[in-house]
Amino acid sequence: MTPPTATMLGFPILLSGVRKIFNTHAGNSVVAIDDVSLEIEAGSFVVLVGPSGCGKSTLLNCVAGLDRVDAGRVTVNGQPVTDKVTPGISYLFQQDTLFPWYTVEKNIALGLRYAGLMDDAESQKRIDHLLEVVDLKGVRKAYPSELSGGMRRRVALCAALVMQPRVLLMDEPFSALDTFTKASIQQYLLKLWDELRPTVLFVTHDLEEAVTLADRVIVFSRRPAVIKDDLKVELPRPRNVYAVKDSPVFLSDYQRTWRALRDEFESEMPRP
Ligand SMILES: Nc1ncnc2c1ncn2[C@@H]1O[C@H](COP(=O)(O)OP(=O)(O)OP(=O)(O)O)[C@@H](O)[C@H]1O
Ligand SMILES: [Mg+2]
Repeated sequence: MTPPTATMLGFPILLSGVRKIFNTHAGNSVVAIDDVSLEIEAGSFVVLVGPSGCGKSTLLNCVAGLDRVDAGRVTVNGQPVTDKVTPGISYLFQQDTLFPWYTVEKNIALGLRYAGLMDDAESQKRIDHLLEVVDLKGVRKAYPSELSGGMRRRVALCAALVMQPRVLLMDEPFSALDTFTKASIQQYLLKLWDELRPTVLFVTHDLEEAVTLADRVIVFSRRPAVIKDDLKVELPRPRNVYAVKDSPVFLSDYQRTWRALRDEFESEMPRP
């Protein structure tokens, strides 16, 4: 893959006074996000956590151009997000989005093919490199049904990164994986992020995952989401996702995030 250069760095993202209201089929309006402002540095890895339904996916959709804000502004690389898909963005969802009738390498190549960006040789070079990093060279001709869940997630990660996005949106991408499969894909992700340095907005409910990956963890309140905490994770990079959990910094950052979130749930917790 092309080595990272200053010009390849991810785009900065700016949200200013963002408000998003949905009108439901039942005729109610739901304020999903209320007056959220965030400045996200180019090439940083930012993780969003918060109670279910607080508006995290909505926020990603507003950055992607899939949802329109009702008030405030979202800019990516200084350009206002419109109702068209924001250029330079890849989006990795929780659900499996691979096409079952294409092989691994064809699934990864699809974005490049639709964009008509490059000749086959260059595109093959990118795909080879990605498959090598995520240890999937041996299954390039396999179909998704022949892979484990963790392998399919690695293919989906390659499909998102093959476009060399400037912004990578990830919405609970590893939530279905067991602890060890999750740790290994996190390590692959960090390696690829370090090569390309897209700006990452990553949503998770797993606080361990949040601290392991992030430069910054943003904790949202219940809906309508407002920012409760904004934590800078001081763990050095490159990170070893296995070793990092033994660090006292990890523990204190984890506890701070847990406490910020715990307050949101405490009133409803059953008593022991
Ligand atoms: N298209 C829609 N129409 C109506 N309401 C919506 C729509 N999309 C989201 N909402 C509502 O907006 C709120 C925020 O939803 P969102 O999916 O962003 O939450 P979330 O933080 O991603 O939750 P989870 O952690 O469960 O994925 C919820 O109350 C949801 O019901
Ligand atoms: Mg969501």
